[in-house]
This record gives sequence, structure tokens and C-alpha cells, in this order.
Amino acid sequence: MQTIVPPATKRTAVSYPALMGQPVLAGDADTVIKIILIGPAKVLPADRPKYTGQMPPITGLSDFKIAALVTYIRATFGKGASAVDEDEVTKVKASLAQ
Ligand code: HEM
Repeated sequence: MQTIVPPATKRTAVSYPALMGQPVLAGDADTVIKIILIGPAKVLPADRPKYTGQMPPITGLSDFKIAALVTYIRATFGKGASAVDEDEVTKVKASLAQ
């Protein structure tokens, strides 16, 4: 019989992490903003778990929309972590530009 998804014991690699319960989401909000703006590879420690996929920077969203996105993923997957406002995103973006 052919299977579409190999059984867990046959899987050798995972492409990307689940967001639910990632400690980074419940931690420092600026770190989550940076993950969205420049991608996780430039933000997270080198000794993090390895995935076969790569996450691109999320471009083309206004600071307001990035604030809404970060607020949503922290509240939903980060144990109800605090909201982020547009000004915080603008501040982090400016710090990255230096
Ligand atoms: C709005 C959309 C997205 C959000 C909110 C998001 C959020 C995140 C966050 C918070 C992490 C860090 C998780 C951790 O602590 O390990 C992460 C990692 C990752 N994401 Fe995304 N992501 C998005 C889109 C994408 C897309 C489009 C891709 C693939 C095309 C992707 C692939 C990955 C991969 C491979 C990692 C692990 C990267 C590494 O550790 O170097 N993500 N994502």
C-alpha cells in the first residue's frame, strides 16, 4: 500500500518548526519582530534545532500589520504573551538599519 506521508519512524528531517509553544514567542517581543523582519537565521542562536527549510524575511507589510501579526502569534502560540504596537516595530526596524 502506498502512503502519502511517511510514518513518523521513517521521517529523517522536519522542514520547519511548529509555532505552538516555541519559547521564543513568549519571550522578548523585539526578538519576534526581528524574526519577521530579517528571518530567524540572523536572529536565533546557532545551536538551535535544525530544519531542512529556511524562512525568508517577511517583506511588504506595514509596521502596523507586523505589529498585528506579532501580537497574534504571541497571544495564540506564546502562552498569551503581551501585545506589540506599531511604534515598537518602527523602533526595531530603525535599530536594524543602523
Ligand atoms: C507570517 C508568516 C510567518 C511567521 C509568523 C513565522 C514565524 C516563525 C517564528 C516565530 C520562527 C522561530 C521559531 C523558533 O523559535 O524556532 C520561525 C522559524 C521558521 N520558519 Fe517561519 N514564519 C512565517 C513564515 C514562514 C515561511 C513562509 C516559511 C517557509 C517558506 C517559514 C519557515 C520557517 C523555518 C524553516 C523556520 C526555522 C528557521 C531556523 O531556525 O533557521 N516561515 N518562523
